[in-house]
Amino acid sequence: MAKFILREYLENIITDSLNVFIRTQDPQGKLTPDTVYPAIIKPTKSAQFGDYQVNGILPLAKTLGTNPRELAQTFADYFAKEHSKEFAKVEVAGPGFVNLFLNDLWLAELTPNLAQLQKNLQTDKAQNIIVDYSAPNIAKEMHVGHLRTTIIGDSLVRVLEFFGHKVTKVNHIGDWGTQFGMLMAYMEEVEKDPEAHQVSIEDLDGFYRAAKARFDADEQFQTYARSLVVKLQGGDPHYLAKWKQLVDITMTQNNRTYRRLDVLLTDDDIMGESMYNPMLPQVVKETLEKGVATLDQGAVVAHLSEFKNKDGEDLGVILRKSDGGYLYATTDLAAMKYRVQELKADQIIYCTDMRQANHFAQIEIIARKMGYLPDTTKVTHAGFGMMLGNDGKPFKSRSGDVVRLNDLLDEAVERTEKLLAERNSEIVGEEKTKLVEALAYGSIKYSDLSKNRATDYVFDWDRMISFEGNTAPYMQYSYARIQSILRRFSLPETNAVMITNEYERNLVLKLQEFADVLDKVSVQLTPHLICTYLFELSGIFNSFYENVNIQKTEEQDLQASRINLINYTANILRVGLDLLGIKVVDRM
Ligand code: ARG
Repeated sequence: MAKFILREYLENIITDSLNVFIRTQDPQGKLTPDTVYPAIIKPTKSAQFGDYQVNGILPLAKTLGTNPRELAQTFADYFAKEHSKEFAKVEVAGPGFVNLFLNDLWLAELTPNLAQLQKNLQTDKAQNIIVDYSAPNIAKEMHVGHLRTTIIGDSLVRVLEFFGHKVTKVNHIGDWGTQFGMLMAYMEEVEKDPEAHQVSIEDLDGFYRAAKARFDADEQFQTYARSLVVKLQGGDPHYLAKWKQLVDITMTQNNRTYRRLDVLLTDDDIMGESMYNPMLPQVVKETLEKGVATLDQGAVVAHLSEFKNKDGEDLGVILRKSDGGYLYATTDLAAMKYRVQELKADQIIYCTDMRQANHFAQIEIIARKMGYLPDTTKVTHAGFGMMLGNDGKPFKSRSGDVVRLNDLLDEAVERTEKLLAERNSEIVGEEKTKLVEALAYGSIKYSDLSKNRATDYVFDWDRMISFEGNTAPYMQYSYARIQSILRRFSLPETNAVMITNEYERNLVLKLQEFADVLDKVSVQLTPHLICTYLFELSGIFNSFYENVNIQKTEEQDLQASRINLINYTANILRVGLDLLGIKVVDRM
């Protein structure tokens, strides 16, 4: 079966019916023959108006020159007969709205268990999708600036894979550039005389700072460092090995952070800037040959009419400096070409902060002009806002430094331990360690992912590590609580679900909505919709659980149905959190 999303399915059958129907109402041929008139449906605000309202009859009545209420009524009668399977009742309201009441029997039958849900979402047009995310820089520690790209990108990978797309995770690490001359020169000094240098290369930030200080202070050192850049670029095996050592040390540390955060990235996903370096001369040559770029005082520059500089002139994107050096933009242009030609990308998603939006838009324009990017390949910048402190300024440590990601994670663990101690949890030992980590890292991820990525957001410890509100601990607690309910029953042998009251009905409808939400996330690349949904699902589940009797139902079928609903809710909570990269525990 192809993809099934309830809202989409309904929209399609209503649109089909409407278009057949209105043609019968058009003896004078006022409608445009080839136009499909869409039936726009939206959920109603209150149960008395049914589940969905169809809009669009009003403008059609106008085109046809008929009375809208009458037209709506004729359509409602026609539609109710056509689709009595899906709808129990079709009513006209107001000036010509059509209200649709879903058929409970049909709805109950449709309730997806996990396997069904996954089947419902499998795309029949699997794409090659590249997600470019995380991308820290070598010889520097990951800091909070890398948090958002890493966890938003990771969630997008999980969602797109859930649909059956072939996703290539790309870690475009900053592993090339002139700074390596300085770093390698300093490495040599430290290796020659470790006593004199109280700095370990494992302390990446400290090492970088010391190397930079040395570079700024000593001209001879500078000259030597520059000579090492030339050697490295010339492929000198000794310096390539030194460079590789720096990359490995950094990535070993980053991998530890990735494992803590439970993100999917491994060394296999590294396609760093260095990888494109050999391709740059050819790419630049091609831009000149195609006339996309021109020589401008010794530099190679692509002038874009789509962007203006501050003097109102076409913006010049430099692809090769007059000294022969290449830039960030050149690498990204080569990367785009590579991803289309070698990786056969149908879609490329960049996950960086908003400040790079123009950069990617410019590269896309150049790549399209170059013919590197066919029209069918979509490029999306899944940009995000800044992480702010409580003072509304960019998030910093108390001393005003950028916060190292590992320090942030340590603090989350500490705070979570304190919170758990207050709750007198009975959980101890290894299970406790796991619980603390799930809650702590979950809190950080969830508080970030639950905000619309495009906006800045305030990083607030107290609000995120809390069992109240739209937080990870609340969601994880809801899950654990449902598991404890389920432990009291054995799972029924059938998947059947029935609707006998409004609580069951609301829960069934909400479970259905998950597919719709994920579908939106896969297009808009907005994981926060998952968080909003899960939070609402928990609320609806709670009122179901408070109002529906499970223990003392005299009817076995009814009890089985309710246990199934509880189990399906748990599954969706778990899958939803998993798509956010957040772990659940069975008890807490
Ligand atoms: N390393 C870059 C930075 O820290 C991010 C790279 C993003 N990806 C890309 N293809 N440019 O800002």
